[in-house]
Amino acid sequence: MARILTGIQSTGTPHLGNLLGAIIPAIKLSEDPKNESFFFIADMHSLTSIKDAALLKENTYATAAAWLAFGFNTDNNIFYRQSDIPEVSELMWYLNCITPYPMLANSHSFKDKANKLHNVNAGLFTYPALMAADILLYDAEIVPVGRDQKQHMEMTRDLARSFNHTYGHTLIEPEAIIDQRVMTIPGTDGQKMSKSYNNFINIFLPDKTLRKQIMGIQTDSTSMEAPKETENCNVFKLYALLASNEQIKEMEANYKGGNYGYGHAKQALFEVICNKYALERDRFNEFMNNKDLIDNELKKGADKARVIAKGVLERVRTKLGYIN
Ligand code: ADP
Ligand code: TRP
Repeated sequence: MARILTGIQSTGTPHLGNLLGAIIPAIKLSEDPKNESFFFIADMHSLTSIKDAALLKENTYATAAAWLAFGFNTDNNIFYRQSDIPEVSELMWYLNCITPYPMLANSHSFKDKANKLHNVNAGLFTYPALMAADILLYDAEIVPVGRDQKQHMEMTRDLARSFNHTYGHTLIEPEAIIDQRVMTIPGTDGQKMSKSYNNFINIFLPDKTLRKQIMGIQTDSTSMEAPKETENCNVFKLYALLASNEQIKEMEANYKGGNYGYGHAKQALFEVICNKYALERDRFNEFMNNKDLIDNELKKGADKARVIAKGVLERVRTKLGYIN
């Protein structure tokens, strides 16, 4: 039995890149009966950037609704909200006290944010210690993350090793799985799809707005009549990720044949999204219209998570000399 754990920040409604790159593969991994999965919404990490309480709350619901809509099994696994587990802040403090200042000062992610932002808060600086606490608090063994989290995972391992070195074996050193095969999903402008570039496709939007988002995908100025290349076309790239082989071949032939405009291709992409994710889109709305269903799920998960968190924290407190 492997204990898998991953978190996703609640900085918006998960977009197609988050779904294909993180949420769907994580749910697949959780379906293997040999695994036990802990998935959580990192809403305390989101506080480093979002100060609007109503927005943070809504984003947390939307993130939870996306996991639930895509069928994450919350009976066999543990699904919770980071802020429901106060033990994580306590462990973070202990880890802070063994975290070397240069380790945090050299973080790529911190340097990047510090260069971009006007207000750099201490939460951004100690972000990796909270992430390490998220992981070490549950004795997680495997942590699937995107490439951008590689350094944070190395810090987590360093902190576990350093704690164990000082106090004797206490914490599990987790392994990161950085899936190189998961491709970067392109956004409507061809760059990596990201909330921060505002180039995302939110499949949970109502039909009309979703269609508008898809119609906004950038294309070149080849005329309707002329044959087109599929290779660098943003519409085709997204279609190829979602459509069946037969549909993809048909679109390729249409591109080659001419008299097939980008508007037609966008319409086909819109239809494929609506058909492929009809169930998930309905379920997402059902959860968002009945937030008590989400609250119940998160409460159930937090109750299970806290039992484990308390056990690990007791081990840590004993080693630190706080419990006789
Ligand atoms: P964003 O860039 O939109 O803020 P996050 O950094 O919050 O997204 O990413 C959450 C998860 O989704 C991470 O595991 C990340 O690797 C994955 N992810 C984000 N964007 C993409 C993308 N365009 N393609 C593939 N995976 C992505
Ligand atoms: N830092 C991660 C991200 O931005 C989110 C995260 C917080 C996380 N705590 C975690 C991921 C623990 C894995 C494990 O994507």
